Amino acid sequence: MTKMNEKKVGIIGLGKYLPEHRLSNKDLEKIVDTTDEWITARTGIKERRIAADNEATSDMAVKAAKNALENAKLNPGDIDLVIVATITPDMFFPATACIVQNKLGINSVPAFDISVACSGFMYGIAIANQFIKTGVYKHVLVIAAEKMSSVTDWTDRSTCVLMGDGAGAAILGEVKDGGILSVYLGADGSKGDLLNMPAGGSRIPATVSTVEGRLHFLKMQGNELFRHAVKIMAEAAMKATEPLGLKGDDISLVIPHQANIRILNAVAKRMGIDPAKKLYLNIEKYGNMSAASSAVALTEAVEEGRVKKGDTILLDAFGAGLTWGAVVIKW
Ligand code: COA
Repeated sequence: MTKMNEKKVGIIGLGKYLPEHRLSNKDLEKIVDTTDEWITARTGIKERRIAADNEATSDMAVKAAKNALENAKLNPGDIDLVIVATITPDMFFPATACIVQNKLGINSVPAFDISVACSGFMYGIAIANQFIKTGVYKHVLVIAAEKMSSVTDWTDRSTCVLMGDGAGAAILGEVKDGGILSVYLGADGSKGDLLNMPAGGSRIPATVSTVEGRLHFLKMQGNELFRHAVKIMAEAAMKATEPLGLKGDDISLVIPHQANIRILNAVAKRMGIDPAKKLYLNIEKYGNMSAASSAVALTEAVEEGRVKKGDTILLDAFGAGLTWGAVVIKW
């Protein structure tokens, strides 16, 4: 919550980029043993976007960032810090944020990546909020960008139907009214094995056998994650809203990380909100884009007029780590 003398911080520009290529459930039927009916009923996903072979995470991130700069009516030179939330960086190092910073032509501002999977946009907002409210920086660019198709095992029907590629971006700055009212973050490293990419890091460096063993793809225990996701996202929503004295009714729209429509409906039920009226969904079009999901969802909710001035919205995300985060914003 904002204290005396602290600046009010809000989102002053939003942008997105989705690759052109659409991969439908019908297309997936030709790749793995699945059906459109199963994917739609079990996940809510109808299609997802897939980046081109020569399109890396930074390429999508830059496009989303330019879109957000245009929306905020700012120039790259107005940005004081670049944060990229991603688990699919262009390469381990340098940071994708440095690659993006260079492509935006702002070569002296600080830039770093955060690796907290699907919660990355929440963590990015939280960091930006701190830097701005204490007067260190004026404008912070938070990009959430993922090329999940690059770590997807296209022979594993239990995961390949879920993921998609894309990028969303937000510019945070000082606002006169409203803005970020509360931020709640959490993590539980004891459950890291539920969703990970085993090889390629210092624990199991890349070898011919790690490639042959398909260890450079994401591995997921879907059932167990599902249970944690429902419980943790509902709890995170409560932890972010309760200190403000807000109940489900006071929230105009919940814009969650889009992992599975059944998870989101169960979270809405626990929060006591009507999903038809107060739950923003675009999972049908994009699947799970990890960190990019909630950034793109917020951008589209605003573009579609679902978020109006004066509305109190809740962003809520959960992902590998485990990590989670929820943010309440008065628009
Ligand atoms: N098409 C058809 N059948 C499939 C399938 C597919 N794409 N994927 C799995 N199945 C099968 C399984 O093999 C299993 O068959 P069996 O009963 O013969 O063994 C059956 O469907 C049920 O599998 P299960 O894993 O229990 O399904 P589910 O209802 O839990 O749905 C997920 C699977 C992955 C959609 C669901 O667990 C989920 O969304 N989990 C959370 C994912 C998540 O949030 N991940 C990221 C965190 S940000």
